[in-house]
Amino acid sequence: MTLWGGRFDAKLDPAAWALNASLPFDRRLAAQDVGGSQAWAAALRDAGLLSAAEYQQIASGLEAIAAEFDGGTFVFAEGDEDIHTAVERRLGERTGALAGKLHTGRSRNDQVATDFRMWVLEALPALDEALCGLQSTLLDLAEAHTATLMPGYTHLQRAQPVTLAHWLLSHFWPLQRDRERLADLRQRTAVLPLGCGALAGTAFPIDRTALAEALGFDEPAPNSIDAVSDRDFAAEFLFCSALCGIHLSRLSESMVLFTTAEFGFFELSDAYATGSSLMPQKKNPDLFELARGKSGSLTGLLTGLLVTLKGLPSSYDKDLQEDKLPVFTAADTLRTILPVLAGALRTMTVHPERMRTAIDPTLMATDLAEHLVRKGVPFREAHGLTGQAVRAAAEKGCGLDQLCQADWQALGLLEADLLPVFDPLASVEKKSAIGGTAPQAVLEQIQNAKIKLRKGKGE
Ligand code: ARG
Repeated sequence: MTLWGGRFDAKLDPAAWALNASLPFDRRLAAQDVGGSQAWAAALRDAGLLSAAEYQQIASGLEAIAAEFDGGTFVFAEGDEDIHTAVERRLGERTGALAGKLHTGRSRNDQVATDFRMWVLEALPALDEALCGLQSTLLDLAEAHTATLMPGYTHLQRAQPVTLAHWLLSHFWPLQRDRERLADLRQRTAVLPLGCGALAGTAFPIDRTALAEALGFDEPAPNSIDAVSDRDFAAEFLFCSALCGIHLSRLSESMVLFTTAEFGFFELSDAYATGSSLMPQKKNPDLFELARGKSGSLTGLLTGLLVTLKGLPSSYDKDLQEDKLPVFTAADTLRTILPVLAGALRTMTVHPERMRTAIDPTLMATDLAEHLVRKGVPFREAHGLTGQAVRAAAEKGCGLDQLCQADWQALGLLEADLLPVFDPLASVEKKSAIGGTAPQAVLEQIQNAKIKLRKGKGE
Protein backbone atom coordinates (compact mmCIF):
# COMPACT_ATOMS: atom_id res chain seq x y z
CA MET A 1 0.00 0.00 0.00
CA THR A 2 1.65 3.20 -1.19
CA LEU A 3 0.64 6.74 -0.33
CA TRP A 4 -0.16 7.42 -3.96
CA GLY A 5 -2.11 4.44 -5.32
CA GLY A 6 -5.35 6.19 -6.37
CA ARG A 7 -4.69 6.82 -10.05
CA PHE A 8 -2.80 3.55 -10.68
CA ASP A 9 -4.34 0.19 -11.48
CA ALA A 10 -1.19 -1.97 -11.49
CA LYS A 11 1.47 -2.49 -8.88
CA LEU A 12 4.99 -1.19 -9.39
CA ASP A 13 7.32 -3.73 -11.01
CA PRO A 14 9.34 -5.41 -8.19
CA ALA A 15 12.72 -4.33 -9.55
CA ALA A 16 11.42 -0.79 -10.01
CA TRP A 17 10.07 -0.95 -6.47
CA ALA A 18 13.52 -1.81 -5.15
CA LEU A 19 15.04 1.14 -7.00
CA ASN A 20 12.34 3.51 -5.84
CA ALA A 21 12.23 2.56 -2.17
CA SER A 22 14.34 4.51 0.29
CA LEU A 23 13.36 2.65 3.46
CA PRO A 24 16.65 0.70 3.62
CA PHE A 25 18.43 3.94 4.46
CA ASP A 26 15.82 6.51 5.49
CA ARG A 27 14.59 4.31 8.35
CA ARG A 28 17.28 6.17 10.27
CA LEU A 29 14.94 9.16 10.16
CA ALA A 30 12.27 7.34 12.20
CA ALA A 31 12.54 9.45 15.35
CA GLN A 32 12.62 12.68 13.35
CA ASP A 33 9.67 11.60 11.21
CA VAL A 34 7.53 10.85 14.24
CA GLY A 35 8.64 14.06 15.98
CA GLY A 36 7.89 16.13 12.88
CA SER A 37 4.46 14.51 12.58
CA GLN A 38 3.68 15.27 16.19
CA ALA A 39 4.39 18.96 15.63
CA TRP A 40 2.42 18.90 12.37
CA ALA A 41 -0.59 17.35 14.12
CA ALA A 42 -0.48 20.15 16.70
CA ALA A 43 -0.27 22.73 13.90
CA LEU A 44 -3.32 21.16 12.22
CA ARG A 45 -5.20 21.33 15.51
CA ASP A 46 -4.24 24.98 15.98
CA ALA A 47 -5.41 25.67 12.42
CA GLY A 48 -8.77 24.09 13.23
CA LEU A 49 -8.25 21.04 11.02
CA LEU A 50 -8.18 18.54 13.86
CA SER A 51 -10.42 18.65 16.91
CA ALA A 52 -8.76 18.47 20.31
CA ALA A 53 -9.92 14.86 20.64
CA GLU A 54 -8.65 13.91 17.19
CA TYR A 55 -5.33 15.53 17.90
CA GLN A 56 -5.09 13.65 21.18
CA GLN A 57 -5.69 10.34 19.46
CA ILE A 58 -3.14 11.01 16.74
CA ALA A 59 -0.58 12.31 19.24
CA SER A 60 -0.86 9.27 21.46
CA GLY A 61 -0.72 6.97 18.42
CA LEU A 62 2.51 8.67 17.35
CA GLU A 63 3.86 8.42 20.87
CA ALA A 64 3.24 4.68 20.87
CA ILE A 65 4.97 4.40 17.49
CA ALA A 66 7.98 6.31 18.86
CA ALA A 67 8.10 3.81 21.72
CA GLU A 68 8.02 0.95 19.21
CA PHE A 69 11.02 2.42 17.40
CA ASP A 70 12.82 3.00 20.71
CA GLY A 71 12.15 -0.51 21.91
CA GLY A 72 13.06 -2.08 18.57
CA THR A 73 9.60 -3.61 18.22
CA PHE A 74 8.40 -1.59 15.21
CA VAL A 75 7.63 -3.99 12.36
CA PHE A 76 8.09 -2.71 8.82
CA ALA A 77 5.67 -3.93 6.18
CA GLU A 78 6.43 -5.00 2.63
CA GLY A 79 4.69 -1.98 1.20
CA ASP A 80 6.65 0.56 3.24
CA GLU A 81 8.25 2.58 0.47
CA ASP A 82 9.97 4.94 2.85
CA ILE A 83 9.96 5.87 6.52
CA HIS A 84 7.13 8.38 6.02
CA THR A 85 4.90 5.69 4.54
CA ALA A 86 5.82 3.28 7.34
CA VAL A 87 4.89 5.72 10.10
CA GLU A 88 1.61 6.74 8.43
CA ARG A 89 0.70 3.09 7.76
CA ARG A 90 1.34 2.17 11.38
CA LEU A 91 -0.65 5.15 12.64
CA GLY A 92 -3.54 3.91 10.52
CA GLU A 93 -3.30 0.49 12.13
CA ARG A 94 -3.46 2.12 15.56
CA THR A 95 -6.02 4.91 15.07
CA GLY A 96 -7.98 3.84 11.99
CA ALA A 97 -9.23 6.29 9.35
CA LEU A 98 -8.38 9.28 11.50
CA ALA A 99 -4.69 8.72 10.62
CA GLY A 100 -5.61 9.84 7.11
CA LYS A 101 -6.05 13.40 8.38
CA LEU A 102 -2.40 13.77 9.41
CA HIS A 103 -1.09 14.38 5.90
CA THR A 104 -3.46 17.35 5.35
CA GLY A 105 -1.58 20.25 3.76
CA ARG A 106 1.70 18.38 3.92
CA SER A 107 3.76 16.55 1.30
CA ARG A 108 6.56 14.09 1.69
CA ASN A 109 8.67 16.75 -0.01
CA ASP A 110 8.53 19.21 2.87
CA GLN A 111 8.36 16.31 5.32
CA VAL A 112 11.58 14.60 4.21
CA ALA A 113 13.50 17.87 4.01
CA THR A 114 12.37 18.59 7.57
CA ASP A 115 13.24 15.15 8.93
CA PHE A 116 16.65 15.28 7.28
CA ARG A 117 17.44 18.72 8.69
CA MET A 118 16.38 17.52 12.14
CA TRP A 119 18.77 14.59 11.79
CA VAL A 120 21.67 16.85 10.82
CA LEU A 121 20.86 19.25 13.67
CA GLU A 122 21.14 16.33 16.08
CA ALA A 123 24.33 15.03 14.45
CA LEU A 124 26.16 18.36 14.81
CA PRO A 125 26.63 18.34 18.62
CA ALA A 126 27.59 14.65 18.56
CA LEU A 127 30.29 15.38 16.00
CA ASP A 128 31.44 18.38 17.98
CA GLU A 129 31.87 16.19 21.01
CA ALA A 130 33.93 13.65 19.09
CA LEU A 131 36.13 16.44 17.73
CA CYS A 132 36.56 17.83 21.26
CA GLY A 133 37.71 14.39 22.39
CA LEU A 134 40.59 14.36 19.91
CA GLN A 135 41.37 17.99 20.63
CA SER A 136 41.68 17.40 24.36
CA THR A 137 43.96 14.42 23.76
CA LEU A 138 46.25 16.61 21.64
CA LEU A 139 46.10 19.30 24.30
CA ASP A 140 46.96 16.96 27.17
CA LEU A 141 49.92 15.60 25.22
CA ALA A 142 51.05 19.11 24.34
CA GLU A 143 51.00 20.12 28.00
CA ALA A 144 53.32 17.24 28.80
CA HIS A 145 55.75 18.14 26.01
CA THR A 146 56.32 21.89 25.99
CA ALA A 147 60.07 21.30 26.42
CA THR A 148 60.41 18.19 24.24
CA LEU A 149 62.41 19.03 21.14
CA MET A 150 61.92 17.55 17.69
CA PRO A 151 62.95 18.46 14.17
CA GLY A 152 60.38 20.54 12.33
CA TYR A 153 60.02 19.83 8.61
CA THR A 154 59.24 21.66 5.41
CA HIS A 155 59.13 19.70 2.16
CA LEU A 156 59.55 16.76 4.56
CA GLN A 157 63.19 17.86 4.91
CA ARG A 158 64.51 18.71 8.35
CA ALA A 159 64.17 22.47 8.73
CA GLN A 160 64.30 23.96 12.25
CA PRO A 161 63.83 22.60 15.75
CA VAL A 162 60.35 22.89 17.26
CA THR A 163 58.76 21.58 20.41
CA LEU A 164 56.58 18.49 20.27
CA ALA A 165 53.84 20.51 21.97
CA HIS A 166 53.88 22.98 19.11
CA TRP A 167 53.64 20.23 16.51
CA LEU A 168 50.77 18.56 18.37
CA LEU A 169 48.89 21.84 18.58
CA SER A 170 49.36 22.36 14.86
CA HIS A 171 46.81 19.55 14.60
CA PHE A 172 44.53 21.03 17.28
CA TRP A 173 43.69 24.22 15.38
CA PRO A 174 42.43 22.63 12.14
CA LEU A 175 39.98 20.62 14.28
CA GLN A 176 38.95 23.85 15.98
CA ARG A 177 38.13 25.32 12.58
CA ASP A 178 36.16 22.15 11.75
CA ARG A 179 34.11 22.66 14.89
CA GLU A 180 33.51 26.32 14.12
CA ARG A 181 32.41 25.47 10.59
CA LEU A 182 29.96 22.86 11.89
CA ALA A 183 28.64 25.27 14.52
CA ASP A 184 28.11 27.87 11.79
CA LEU A 185 26.26 25.35 9.66
CA ARG A 186 23.61 25.04 12.37
CA GLN A 187 21.98 28.36 11.46
CA ARG A 188 21.51 27.40 7.81
CA THR A 189 20.21 23.98 8.77
CA ALA A 190 17.67 25.27 11.30
CA VAL A 191 15.39 26.70 8.59
CA LEU A 192 12.11 24.81 8.47
CA PRO A 193 10.69 23.40 5.20
CA LEU A 194 7.54 21.96 6.85
CA GLY A 195 4.42 23.82 5.81
CA CYS A 196 5.66 24.30 2.24
CA GLY A 197 3.64 21.38 0.87
CA ALA A 198 4.81 19.73 -2.33
CA LEU A 199 6.26 22.96 -3.71
CA ALA A 200 3.67 25.74 -3.70
CA GLY A 201 3.04 26.17 0.01
CA THR A 202 0.23 24.86 2.17
CA ALA A 203 -3.41 25.75 1.50
CA PHE A 204 -4.35 25.70 5.19
CA PRO A 205 -3.85 28.40 7.83
CA ILE A 206 -0.73 26.90 9.41
CA ASP A 207 1.34 29.12 11.70
CA ARG A 208 4.76 28.18 10.34
CA THR A 209 6.61 30.41 12.78
CA ALA A 210 5.07 28.59 15.72
CA LEU A 211 5.75 25.29 13.98
CA ALA A 212 9.42 26.22 13.52
CA GLU A 213 9.67 27.07 17.19
CA ALA A 214 7.97 23.85 18.25
CA LEU A 215 10.50 21.81 16.27
CA GLY A 216 13.53 23.76 17.53
CA PHE A 217 14.15 25.53 14.21
CA ASP A 218 15.11 29.22 14.05
CA GLU A 219 12.66 30.25 11.34
CA PRO A 220 10.39 28.93 8.56
CA ALA A 221 11.91 28.68 5.07
CA PRO A 222 11.01 31.86 3.16
CA ASN A 223 10.23 30.24 -0.23
CA SER A 224 8.34 26.98 -0.63
CA ILE A 225 9.95 26.00 -3.96
CA ASP A 226 13.43 26.54 -2.54
CA ALA A 227 12.47 24.85 0.73
CA VAL A 228 11.71 21.47 -0.87
CA SER A 229 14.79 21.51 -3.08
CA ASP A 230 17.46 23.12 -0.88
CA ARG A 231 20.11 20.60 0.13
CA ASP A 232 22.85 23.16 0.75
CA PHE A 233 22.96 22.11 4.39
CA ALA A 234 23.72 18.53 3.33
CA ALA A 235 26.42 19.62 0.88
CA GLU A 236 27.92 21.89 3.52
CA PHE A 237 27.84 19.10 6.07
CA LEU A 238 29.70 16.91 3.58
CA PHE A 239 32.24 19.64 2.88
CA CYS A 240 32.85 20.08 6.61
CA SER A 241 33.22 16.31 6.95
CA ALA A 242 35.54 16.01 3.96
CA LEU A 243 37.79 18.80 5.18
CA CYS A 244 37.81 17.34 8.67
CA GLY A 245 38.71 14.00 7.07
CA ILE A 246 41.60 15.70 5.30
CA HIS A 247 42.83 17.14 8.60
CA LEU A 248 42.70 13.69 10.15
CA SER A 249 44.46 12.27 7.12
CA ARG A 250 47.32 14.72 7.41
CA LEU A 251 47.74 13.97 11.09
CA SER A 252 47.59 10.27 10.28
CA GLU A 253 50.22 10.54 7.56
CA SER A 254 52.63 12.07 10.09
CA MET A 255 51.79 9.35 12.59
CA VAL A 256 52.50 6.65 10.00
CA LEU A 257 55.83 8.29 9.26
CA PHE A 258 56.84 9.02 12.84
CA THR A 259 56.14 5.46 13.98
CA THR A 260 58.49 3.92 11.38
CA ALA A 261 61.80 2.43 12.54
CA GLU A 262 63.53 5.16 10.54
CA PHE A 263 61.90 7.95 12.58
CA GLY A 264 60.97 6.11 15.76
CA PHE A 265 59.56 9.24 17.39
CA PHE A 266 56.44 7.45 18.63
CA GLU A 267 55.46 3.86 19.29
CA LEU A 268 51.83 2.78 19.17
CA SER A 269 50.36 0.79 22.03
CA ASP A 270 49.30 -2.75 21.17
CA ALA A 271 45.66 -1.73 21.56
CA TYR A 272 45.97 0.56 18.55
CA ALA A 273 48.29 -1.35 16.21
CA THR A 274 47.82 -4.43 14.07
CA GLY A 275 50.04 -7.25 12.90
CA SER A 276 50.87 -9.01 9.67
CA SER A 277 49.56 -12.48 8.78
CA LEU A 278 52.94 -13.29 7.24
CA MET A 279 55.66 -11.26 8.93
CA PRO A 280 55.68 -11.95 12.66
CA GLN A 281 57.66 -8.85 13.58
CA LYS A 282 55.25 -6.33 12.05
CA LYS A 283 53.40 -3.73 14.07
CA ASN A 284 51.34 -1.70 11.65
CA PRO A 285 49.60 1.67 12.01
CA ASP A 286 46.48 0.45 10.16
CA LEU A 287 44.12 2.71 12.05
CA PHE A 288 45.95 5.83 10.92
CA GLU A 289 46.16 4.44 7.39
CA LEU A 290 42.42 3.85 7.44
CA ALA A 291 41.79 7.39 8.63
CA ARG A 292 44.01 8.59 5.79
CA GLY A 293 42.18 6.34 3.31
CA LYS A 294 38.72 7.31 4.49
CA SER A 295 39.46 10.96 3.78
CA GLY A 296 39.29 9.90 0.11
CA SER A 297 35.87 8.34 0.63
CA LEU A 298 34.64 11.41 2.52
CA THR A 299 35.72 13.65 -0.34
CA GLY A 300 33.89 11.32 -2.73
CA LEU A 301 30.67 11.66 -0.74
CA LEU A 302 30.83 15.43 -1.11
CA THR A 303 31.58 15.25 -4.82
CA GLY A 304 28.78 12.73 -5.30
CA LEU A 305 26.12 14.94 -3.77
CA LEU A 306 27.33 18.07 -5.57
CA VAL A 307 27.06 16.27 -8.89
CA THR A 308 23.60 14.97 -7.97
CA LEU A 309 22.44 18.52 -7.23
CA LYS A 310 24.00 20.08 -10.29
CA GLY A 311 21.51 20.72 -13.05
CA LEU A 312 18.39 19.70 -11.08
CA PRO A 313 15.34 21.72 -12.02
CA SER A 314 14.23 23.74 -9.03
CA SER A 315 11.73 22.30 -6.56
CA TYR A 316 11.65 18.61 -5.56
CA ASP A 317 13.12 15.94 -7.85
CA LYS A 318 13.50 12.31 -6.87
CA ASP A 319 17.25 12.62 -7.39
CA LEU A 320 17.18 14.32 -4.01
CA GLN A 321 16.52 10.97 -2.37
CA GLU A 322 20.24 10.35 -2.96
CA ASP A 323 21.08 13.02 -0.38
CA LYS A 324 20.77 10.98 2.80
CA LEU A 325 23.16 8.08 2.46
CA PRO A 326 26.28 10.22 1.93
CA VAL A 327 25.44 12.36 4.95
CA PHE A 328 24.77 9.34 7.17
CA THR A 329 27.96 7.69 5.94
CA ALA A 330 30.10 10.78 6.51
CA ALA A 331 28.76 11.27 10.03
CA ASP A 332 29.27 7.59 10.87
CA THR A 333 32.78 7.61 9.42
CA LEU A 334 33.94 10.58 11.47
CA ARG A 335 32.31 9.32 14.63
CA THR A 336 34.14 6.03 14.15
CA ILE A 337 37.55 7.49 13.35
CA LEU A 338 37.77 10.32 15.88
CA PRO A 339 37.70 8.33 19.14
CA VAL A 340 40.10 5.75 17.69
CA LEU A 341 42.67 8.37 16.75
CA ALA A 342 42.28 9.97 20.18
CA GLY A 343 42.83 6.60 21.87
CA ALA A 344 45.88 5.81 19.73
CA LEU A 345 47.50 9.14 20.55
CA ARG A 346 46.63 8.94 24.23
CA THR A 347 48.26 5.54 24.62
CA MET A 348 51.34 5.88 22.41
CA THR A 349 54.88 6.04 23.78
CA VAL A 350 56.87 9.16 22.93
CA HIS A 351 60.62 8.78 22.40
CA PRO A 352 62.10 12.23 23.11
CA GLU A 353 65.67 10.97 22.68
CA ARG A 354 64.93 9.82 19.10
CA MET A 355 63.53 13.23 18.28
CA ARG A 356 66.44 14.98 19.96
CA THR A 357 69.08 13.00 18.04
CA ALA A 358 67.30 13.77 14.77
CA ILE A 359 68.11 17.44 15.33
CA ASP A 360 71.50 17.79 13.67
CA PRO A 361 73.43 21.09 13.81
CA THR A 362 72.42 22.14 10.31
CA LEU A 363 68.91 22.70 11.68
CA MET A 364 70.47 25.68 13.46
CA ALA A 365 71.86 27.19 10.23
CA THR A 366 69.11 29.82 10.34
CA ASP A 367 70.08 30.57 13.94
CA LEU A 368 73.63 31.14 12.73
CA ALA A 369 72.44 33.57 10.06
CA GLU A 370 70.30 35.34 12.66
CA HIS A 371 73.31 35.50 14.97
CA LEU A 372 75.09 37.44 12.23
CA VAL A 373 72.02 39.66 11.81
CA ARG A 374 72.21 40.55 15.51
CA LYS A 375 75.79 41.64 14.84
CA GLY A 376 74.56 44.05 12.19
CA VAL A 377 75.04 41.95 9.03
CA PRO A 378 72.09 42.37 6.61
CA PHE A 379 70.08 39.15 6.52
CA ARG A 380 70.65 38.43 2.84
CA GLU A 381 74.42 38.61 3.36
CA ALA A 382 74.20 36.55 6.56
CA HIS A 383 72.23 33.91 4.61
CA GLY A 384 75.05 33.73 2.03
CA LEU A 385 77.81 33.47 4.64
CA THR A 386 75.97 30.76 6.51
CA GLY A 387 75.41 28.90 3.26
CA GLN A 388 79.18 28.94 2.74
CA ALA A 389 79.67 27.49 6.22
CA VAL A 390 77.14 24.74 5.46
CA ARG A 391 79.02 23.94 2.27
CA ALA A 392 82.39 23.95 4.05
CA ALA A 393 81.08 21.52 6.65
CA ALA A 394 79.63 19.26 3.96
CA GLU A 395 82.94 19.24 2.08
CA LYS A 396 84.83 18.39 5.25
CA GLY A 397 82.24 15.81 6.19
CA CYS A 398 81.80 17.36 9.64
CA GLY A 399 78.87 18.85 11.52
CA LEU A 400 78.12 22.54 11.06
CA ASP A 401 79.16 23.05 14.69
CA GLN A 402 82.50 21.27 14.10
CA LEU A 403 84.12 23.80 11.75
CA CYS A 404 87.54 25.02 12.94
CA GLN A 405 88.68 28.43 14.08
CA ALA A 406 90.08 29.25 10.64
CA ASP A 407 86.76 28.40 8.90
CA TRP A 408 84.84 30.69 11.21
CA GLN A 409 87.42 33.44 10.88
CA ALA A 410 87.07 33.28 7.11
CA LEU A 411 83.40 34.12 7.70
CA GLY A 412 84.32 36.88 10.14
CA LEU A 413 83.00 34.91 13.11
CA LEU A 414 84.38 34.06 16.54
CA GLU A 415 84.11 30.40 17.45
CA ALA A 416 83.57 31.19 21.14
CA ASP A 417 80.41 33.19 20.31
CA LEU A 418 78.82 30.33 18.47
CA LEU A 419 78.21 27.70 21.13
CA PRO A 420 74.71 28.87 22.13
CA VAL A 421 73.79 29.19 18.44
CA PHE A 422 73.88 25.42 18.07
CA ASP A 423 71.76 24.72 21.12
CA PRO A 424 68.31 23.64 19.85
CA LEU A 425 66.60 24.67 23.08
CA ALA A 426 68.05 28.17 22.74
CA SER A 427 66.83 28.08 19.13
CA VAL A 428 63.21 27.36 20.04
CA GLU A 429 63.28 29.78 22.97
CA LYS A 430 63.98 32.61 20.55
CA LYS A 431 60.69 31.97 18.69
CA SER A 432 58.75 33.72 21.42
CA ALA A 433 56.41 35.94 19.38
CA ILE A 434 52.73 34.90 19.40
CA GLY A 435 52.30 31.64 17.52
CA GLY A 436 55.97 30.64 17.79
CA THR A 437 57.42 27.43 19.17
CA ALA A 438 59.12 28.91 22.28
CA PRO A 439 57.88 27.02 25.37
CA GLN A 440 56.54 30.28 26.84
CA ALA A 441 54.60 31.10 23.65
CA VAL A 442 53.31 27.52 23.51
CA LEU A 443 52.05 27.78 27.09
CA GLU A 444 50.02 30.81 26.04
CA GLN A 445 48.80 28.88 23.00
CA ILE A 446 47.71 26.07 25.31
CA GLN A 447 45.75 28.53 27.45
CA ASN A 448 43.96 29.84 24.35
CA ALA A 449 43.29 26.34 23.14
CA LYS A 450 41.75 25.44 26.50
CA ILE A 451 39.42 28.42 26.32
CA LYS A 452 38.27 27.41 22.82
CA LEU A 453 37.71 23.85 23.97
CA ARG A 454 35.71 24.89 27.02
CA LYS A 455 33.54 27.17 24.89
CA GLY A 456 32.64 24.21 22.72
CA LYS A 457 31.51 22.34 25.78
CA GLY A 458 28.92 25.03 26.42
CA GLU A 459 30.84 26.91 29.12
N1 ARG B 1 11.77 9.06 -0.12
C1 ARG B 1 11.69 10.38 -0.63
C2 ARG B 1 13.03 11.10 -0.44
O1 ARG B 1 13.79 10.63 0.34
C3 ARG B 1 10.62 11.14 0.08
C4 ARG B 1 10.00 12.19 -0.74
C5 ARG B 1 9.20 11.56 -1.80
N2 ARG B 1 8.52 12.56 -2.57
C6 ARG B 1 7.98 12.28 -3.75
N3 ARG B 1 7.44 13.26 -4.36
N4 ARG B 1 8.01 11.09 -4.23
O2 ARG B 1 13.29 12.10 -1.06
